[in-house]
Amino acid sequence: MMPPKPPARPDKVSLWRYMRLFREDILSAQPERLYRAWMAEFRTPFFRSFMVNDTALIRRVLKERPMEFPKSDRIGEGLRPLLGQSVFLTNGDTWLRQRRLIDPAFEGGRLRDTFPAMLAAAQNAVDRITEGVHDIEPEASHVTADVIFRTLFSIPIEDRIARAVFEEFRIYQRTQPILNLAAFIPLPRWMPRLHRRATKRSARRIRALIEELVSQRQSAIAEGTAPDDLATKILLARDPETGERFEAGEMVDQVAIFFLAGHETSAAALGWTLYLLATHPDVQEKVAKEARDFMADPDFRKLSRMPHTRDVFRESLRLYPPVPMLVRETTQAEDMRGRTSGIGDQIVISPWHLHRQTRLWDNPDAFDPDRWQTENGRARMRDAYLPFSTGPRVCTGAGFAMAEGVVLLAAILASWRVAPVDGRIPMPQAHLTVRSADGIWLNFEPRSESYTIE
Ligand code: HEM
Repeated sequence: MMPPKPPARPDKVSLWRYMRLFREDILSAQPERLYRAWMAEFRTPFFRSFMVNDTALIRRVLKERPMEFPKSDRIGEGLRPLLGQSVFLTNGDTWLRQRRLIDPAFEGGRLRDTFPAMLAAAQNAVDRITEGVHDIEPEASHVTADVIFRTLFSIPIEDRIARAVFEEFRIYQRTQPILNLAAFIPLPRWMPRLHRRATKRSARRIRALIEELVSQRQSAIAEGTAPDDLATKILLARDPETGERFEAGEMVDQVAIFFLAGHETSAAALGWTLYLLATHPDVQEKVAKEARDFMADPDFRKLSRMPHTRDVFRESLRLYPPVPMLVRETTQAEDMRGRTSGIGDQIVISPWHLHRQTRLWDNPDAFDPDRWQTENGRARMRDAYLPFSTGPRVCTGAGFAMAEGVVLLAAILASWRVAPVDGRIPMPQAHLTVRSADGIWLNFEPRSESYTIE
């Protein structure tokens, strides 16, 4: 069975209709031919964007000259009240300094320290699931938020502040217009933005809660009682070039992005992977076998011994990349496959289209985790697979998210068998991440073979 894909729009529509479609859903607003195009230029009298699927051009933008293709202010505009000067939005020297302080906490060796917290969150999710039909998306958000709080601040989602951030964040999302809209249709600055006041109010409340967490942690560090989690590691990190640390305000910005980028994305990935497994029972049984072996005696080092689960997660990130599009801006005239860009043009790199590019992938719309062991799969992994982006601005949490995905799948599938629900085919839609238009409904049935964790 082919995994669901939104219907593409007809090739020719008016700009007005395109904008309307766009507001409804960025994915189905795009024409079918973008799946085989190397580049598409979108031009109006006011702005110009290039959607780029050419692997050499993508390499230039993300890897070879990333500093000359910064993130645009317009993309950050809607997010700034929540994220301030977070590493996700900054550019140039500020961004470089922030990555120097953050990256060491996420390195492989230190990632191992987060494993017990990930496992505890996974185990709690397994206990919350009950037999029968459920929409898995809310649970996926719940467990990934739990992972973030446990690994960052050593607190579970049941903690007063953690729960309040989680709840407030749901309100924030409802008030936040589609993230990437501005890349295609940059609105004039004077145009009123939807829900602006509500978004700002919600962002202020989330930040006040995070400020409380950061300030408690700074006191604990001063008293020598702080746990050695991600927050402590980042707050104690010193910039090797200047010797400086993060100040409280800047740390709040970073915690806000870890929460935003780190839980919505992982939740989207978990939901789609479970759906793909539900609709491919033979693959699910292979994953469940690895899962049971792993959960019988869970250990961080054994994560690398779950090749099938990893390939399944990878394949799910290919078909449903949680971040469907990356947006950059030109700072000078650029040769774009024979056309010349201006300054300030938008460059849209679309993992959604790149991962299904018909001229690059064998059978691009099929769910085939074994492709990663083929020559085509290995080649595309190098040049056309960007769930976490690539180059110096690659996702800070890529290793973390891969470990988390495998741990969550192992815990759930060792205990539960998932099956699709008649008439409930989830349709991908891009909001902050690629989610289903109407939830991901699955039937949960307990597996008779069980395991215990000491
Ligand atoms: C499956 C899960 C995840 C996916 C698919 C994902 C994907 C991405 C992508 C595509 C970007 C680049 C965005 C751009 O350049 O426009 C990004 C950036 C980022 N991600 Fe993730 N992410 C995931 C999980 C996480 C986690 C768990 C964390 C942290 C705990 C995290 C933290 C960040 C940060 C801080 C950035 C900004 C990096 C920079 O601009 O230098 N992400 N992520």
